[in-house]
Amino acid sequence: MKTLVVYYSRSGNTKKIAEEISNKMNCDIEEIIDNKNRKGIIGWLKSGRDARSKKLTTIKEMRKDIGKYDLVVIGTPIWAALMAPAVRTFINENKGEFKNVAFFCTCGSSGDVKTFEDMEDFIGITPLAKLTLTRKELIGDREDKLKVFIKGIK
Ligand SMILES: Cc1cc2nc3c(=O)[nH]c(=O)nc-3n(C[C@H](O)[C@H](O)[C@H](O)COP(=O)(O)O)c2cc1C
Repeated sequence: MKTLVVYYSRSGNTKKIAEEISNKMNCDIEEIIDNKNRKGIIGWLKSGRDARSKKLTTIKEMRKDIGKYDLVVIGTPIWAALMAPAVRTFINENKGEFKNVAFFCTCGSSGDVKTFEDMEDFIGITPLAKLTLTRKELIGDREDKLKVFIKGIK
């Protein structure tokens, strides 16, 4: 399956996992860039509010053609128990292009169930696999979880 890993990351956690997945799967990867400045405490507050209200943002044009991939693995940080606005915007802009999807998220501790339900509803496709990594797992061992996730989508 021709696979693309796509992710948004504000502070680097989701980026790190996206790179691990793409290295292990030996597949393409692309970052979603939010045009909105989300740095600092003001950025943090606005980000939570935007995610909670399921607001769209604007993102940089993607280089990869989503329709050319059999599988798109989508990664998001959890914000207010939902996907980040840049990921919502990416899905919105590519609706109808996805053949198969898998989801992964990074978070402090919780919100993944609601986030994945919302992503599935929004994209209209049941993901082949889902992966959550909490703060603890981001600094500790995650090899087994990554292996199970990749096995689920291959
Ligand atoms: C605005 C905002 C809201 C967040 N909301 C949650 C949450 O609801 N649940 C949770 O466990 N972590 C939450 N977090 C923590 C992030 O999900 C976590 O730090 C994640 O790994 C960040 O990923 P990144 O480094 O790729 O941006 C939130 C972080 C931000 C900035």
